[in-house]
Amino acid sequence: MSRDADGLAPPSRCRPTDELPPLLEFRDGSPVESTADWRERRDELRELLRHYVYGYAPEAPEIETTSERTAGVLDGAATLVETEIAFAALPPDAPSITMATFLPSDAVDDDRSVPVLLGLNWGGNHAAVEDPAVTITDAAREHGGREDGAAERGVAADYWCVEHVLSRGYGFATYHLADVDPDDGDPATGVRPYYDDDLPGPLGTEWGTLAAWAWGLQRCVDALRPMEAVRADEIAVLGHSRCGKAALLAGATDERIGLVAPHQSGTGGMALDRDNDQEGIGDIIGTFPQWFADTYAAFDGQVDRLPVDSHSLAALVAPRPLIDTAGARDYWTNPGRALDAVRAAEPVWELLGAEGVGDDLPLYGDDEISEETVGSLCHYRRETAHTLDEGYLDAILDFADVHFDGA
Ligand code: GCU
Repeated sequence: MSRDADGLAPPSRCRPTDELPPLLEFRDGSPVESTADWRERRDELRELLRHYVYGYAPEAPEIETTSERTAGVLDGAATLVETEIAFAALPPDAPSITMATFLPSDAVDDDRSVPVLLGLNWGGNHAAVEDPAVTITDAAREHGGREDGAAERGVAADYWCVEHVLSRGYGFATYHLADVDPDDGDPATGVRPYYDDDLPGPLGTEWGTLAAWAWGLQRCVDALRPMEAVRADEIAVLGHSRCGKAALLAGATDERIGLVAPHQSGTGGMALDRDNDQEGIGDIIGTFPQWFADTYAAFDGQVDRLPVDSHSLAALVAPRPLIDTAGARDYWTNPGRALDAVRAAEPVWELLGAEGVGDDLPLYGDDEISEETVGSLCHYRRETAHTLDEGYLDAILDFADVHFDGA
């Protein structure tokens, strides 16, 4: 795909969703007609997605956590809990996850539990806020910045808008993707080599980096749920771009996650592989082969043979709430094919008795997101290129307000 000097390409046309692999039909052609049927079909799709796209992650490991609490961070707005999540079966020098959780001070003072937005970050936890209390981890020092060394503190503060999230009654938790896999394409770094012998799939289906990051998010969920200050069933996962792909995969494969918010996740995320005239399988595999199982590359040039597509991944979230957020000018992530995937997945929400998208997608800019305007599946756009900001966070939190009780 050619792009102009700004890295943009014209938006793609949409094509009818009936050319996608059917969701409500088993592989043997029999129909999926009930919730019980869907449970089986869900397992079938999950297996296909692991086998042909993302690879098999290991089973949930036993974790060991230690936490440190600091009150009065972010000018008094938050209590910070830094949690070290180690893997009991791994040697002491193996990677661990450092999760930073910011809890609204007023909720902490009142002993109130809050819903939590869990975001996967790529600059280091300390880059998400401007506060010296946040640890700069060894992984962030090594892999954090765009150049050598750690990113500056708070450099992503306008991106995550943590104070704003807290002011809306939500906690914010995050971990740095390099804790699990630094994305350097080296199969010997990160957590994956420690699990080489424990993967459930056949040769060639070993987990890629996206599955590893998703697994890391799920380990954060393990650690968040027992926290008294956290409403265990009101954890939303969010990620932008490659982290959005991982967030969608995490939410799709873990029913404990209460809401899923992939943001500008593109190919390998919400955007369909089929008829994607932006980033094709060959493009993404050519640049980031480490993100997927080796099996995925075989579909370059013959995407129609892939027995799943991104609507299959999205459907695994049903009937839980899913909001896909997109930039109208973020052409590379192909908002049109992300919307097509949302529409194609809707029948699964409906089969399960949840309200799907209605007729009014996409929602744009200042469109209201409330119980009157949205169901459990939403696609929302703003007039931006590739970025995360307060406007997107507000849309996600408005959607979460509709589905969660705790904020
Ligand atoms: C590249 C890649 C995208 C990815 C993005 C990002 O542009 O092609 O698939 O989403 O990087 O993560 O920033």
